[in-house]
Amino acid sequence: VKKVFSGIQPTGDLHIGNYLGAIRRWVDLQNDENDVTYCIVDLHSITLPQNPLELRNNSLRICASLLACGIDPNKSTLFLQSSIKEHSELCWILGCITTMARLTHLPQYKDKSAAMKEIPLGLYLYPVLQAADIMLYKATHVPVGEDQLQHLQLALSLTKLFNHRFGKTFPMCQAMVAEDASCRIKSLRDPSKKMSKSDPDPKSCVMITDTPEVIKGKVKKAITDCTSEVTFDPLTRPGVANLLTMHSMVSGKSVQSICDEVKDVDTGKYKLIVADALIEHINPIRIKIEDYLKNPDHLCNILNQGSDKAREVAEKTINEVKIKVGLGNFR
Ligand code: TYM
Repeated sequence: VKKVFSGIQPTGDLHIGNYLGAIRRWVDLQNDENDVTYCIVDLHSITLPQNPLELRNNSLRICASLLACGIDPNKSTLFLQSSIKEHSELCWILGCITTMARLTHLPQYKDKSAAMKEIPLGLYLYPVLQAADIMLYKATHVPVGEDQLQHLQLALSLTKLFNHRFGKTFPMCQAMVAEDASCRIKSLRDPSKKMSKSDPDPKSCVMITDTPEVIKGKVKKAITDCTSEVTFDPLTRPGVANLLTMHSMVSGKSVQSICDEVKDVDTGKYKLIVADALIEHINPIRIKIEDYLKNPDHLCNILNQGSDKAREVAEKTINEVKIKVGLGNFR
C-alpha cells in the first residue's frame, strides 16, 4: 500500500500550475491500492500575514476547488491542518533536532525573506512543519510540483535523523514529481519564473476560477518571443514551450502532435487556440466550484469528517513519538 500525503496552502485560489503540477495527480492517486490523505495547510499560510476572515473563507474555497477537481472524500481523507493539533506538536519536536544552518539555505525561505526587514520565526520553521505533516501520517509517497523538492529532502533527512536517534519510527518518503514540464508551469508574464500565487501581477497566473473572458485576456497577453512559428524549445523559447505544455496537458494531445497541427499558425493565433483549450477544460471545474460554494455547511462537514479520520492516525503517531523521545507518559 502506498501511503500518499500532500498539502496545499489556502492562500488564494488554485492556479493552473497547482492544478497541472499537483492536484490532477492527487486525483489519479485515489484508488484502492493507496491510502490517500490531502491537507489544506492553513498553518503554513499564516507564516505570512493573512486577513483572518479571508483566510477562513479561502480554506473553504480551496476545499470546494479540490472537490470540483475530483478529490473524492469517500476515497481520500481531506482535512484542514489547524484542526489537528499534532501537526504543531510534531513540528516542535522535529524543530529540536533541526539545525539553523540546514534551514537558512532553503531557497523558498531565502526568496520570501529577502525583501523583509523583520522575518517571522514561523517562516523559518515552515519546512519543519511540512516535514511534520508528512511524517505524522507516515507517508511514503508525496505528489508535489518541482518547487517542493528541497522541502521533501529536509523531511527525508529528519526522518533518517529521528530514526537513528530514537529507533525506527518513520518510513522514508519519496517525492512524486511529474516527469514532463507540468511539474513547473511558468508565469505567463515571465517564463523564467514559476507561476506563483504570490506573484503581484494577476496576469501571470491562470486561476481555475477565472471566467472564459479573463482566461482569454491573460493568455493573449502571455509573453512569448519574436519568432512566429510554434516550436517546443523550453530552453530557448520558454514562453511558447509553457503554452504548449499547458495545452498538451489539458487536451491529452502530445506536444509534438500539437506542433504538427499548428505548423501554419503564428504564435499570436496559437494563443487563442491555447486559451480555448484551457477554457474547455477549466470552465466545467469553475462551475462546479460555484455550486459547492453555495453550500458551505456541506464543505465544513466534509472537512470535519476528514479531521476525524486524520486525528486517529495523528494521535497514534504522536504517542509513539513521545514515548520514544521520553516525553510525558506518566499518567
Ligand atoms: P503550494 O500551496 O504552494 O502548492 C501546491 C502544489 O502545487 C504545486 N505547484 C506547482 N506545480 C507546477 N508548476 C507550478 N508553477 C506550481 N506552483 C505550485 C506545488 O509544488 C505543490 O505541490 N509547502 C507546500 C504545501 C505543503 C505540503 C506539505 C506539500 C505543506 N505541507 C506536505 C506536500 C507535503 C506549498 O506551499 O504548496
